[in-house]
Amino acid sequence: MVKKDDIKKAAKVIKDGGIVLFPTETVYGIGANALNDEAVKKIFVAKGRAQDNPLILHIADMDMLDDIAGNISTLEYKLMDAFWPGPFTIILNKKSGIAKVATCDGDIVGVRMPSNKIAHDLIKESNLPIAAPSANISGKPSGTNIKDIIDELGNKVDYVIDGGETDIGLESTVVRVINDEVKILRPGKITKEDIENVISHVTVDKNVMGEISNDEKVLSPGMKYRHYAPKTPCKLIYSDDYNKMKNAIYELSSKEKKVLILAYREDIKDFSDYTTIDIGSKNNLDEVSHKLFSILRKIDDYDASLAIIEGLSLEGLGLAIMNRLIRACNHDYLVL
Ligand code: TXA
Ligand code: MG
Repeated sequence: MVKKDDIKKAAKVIKDGGIVLFPTETVYGIGANALNDEAVKKIFVAKGRAQDNPLILHIADMDMLDDIAGNISTLEYKLMDAFWPGPFTIILNKKSGIAKVATCDGDIVGVRMPSNKIAHDLIKESNLPIAAPSANISGKPSGTNIKDIIDELGNKVDYVIDGGETDIGLESTVVRVINDEVKILRPGKITKEDIENVISHVTVDKNVMGEISNDEKVLSPGMKYRHYAPKTPCKLIYSDDYNKMKNAIYELSSKEKKVLILAYREDIKDFSDYTTIDIGSKNNLDEVSHKLFSILRKIDDYDASLAIIEGLSLEGLGLAIMNRLIRACNHDYLVL
């Protein structure tokens, strides 16, 4: 848990060009002074992150925004006003000449003002924007508690703040405003429906649920990388008709040597002949998102020949959960 002086010590590390593991309300971040290119490079090395995948800059107040982004539209301000501080990232025009490594030398920058108190205090105390991707080796599920990530990242960072389990469990919603339309590039806790309450024109980028071909140009590089995938082959199955979905799971299971079924609490009893993991209640998607990444990290412990994952409707938070599950399954999914 948080220790006395954690914020002061971690802020000093950030100011001195080091890297820090710290909690946010979404997932843990691995952060550095966004304006120090050498420090930010250390994050790319620690994660094994692709050089063309930019980092989100985390800020504590609107004064910090002025230093990094410009030409901000009324619509963009409206979104920040509605969803900051919170699990919401917006891609803006970057002030030139700064944060070259963090933004992969682009002219746009992803910015987020987290609501988690530790994250806020760390940025405030450092008095610097903190560039921070999710804390995980690239390709692995994001870390939502220190225990899950300490082995893969603990000895690669200069300071660790243990803030317990993160609240939301999925990374922030990422949007970009293009021609007065809000495009969701990564769904999260702030849902399409939440954004529609503020602005009427909201679309979900086709790559959020689709599969991306190798040569395709994407609006957010993170979309094209392998994500969240256990070594065990995983298959996602969904139908609005529960019996149809259940029967498809039975049929697939009967062909496998050792199947593992990730099912919602309400449905677990129907799969009692198999090894199961309870992924939370269908009626409480906050619970499902809170524990999803920890569960994905455990799949390989079961030595299953196949992990079958029950899907969800794409409404509300369902879209964000399905976006992560589809990637965990390497796009191997069946919608009936
Ligand atoms: O909740 C979160 O967003 C967490 C916490 C630590 O804040 N961070 C996080 O960062 O998930 P990361 O790097 O794992 O994911 C950031 C996503 C990537 O898909 C990246 O491609 C996209 O945001 N992104 C960041 N900057 C961008 C930019 N300038 N243009 C387009 N996409 C960008
Ligand atoms: Mg990530």
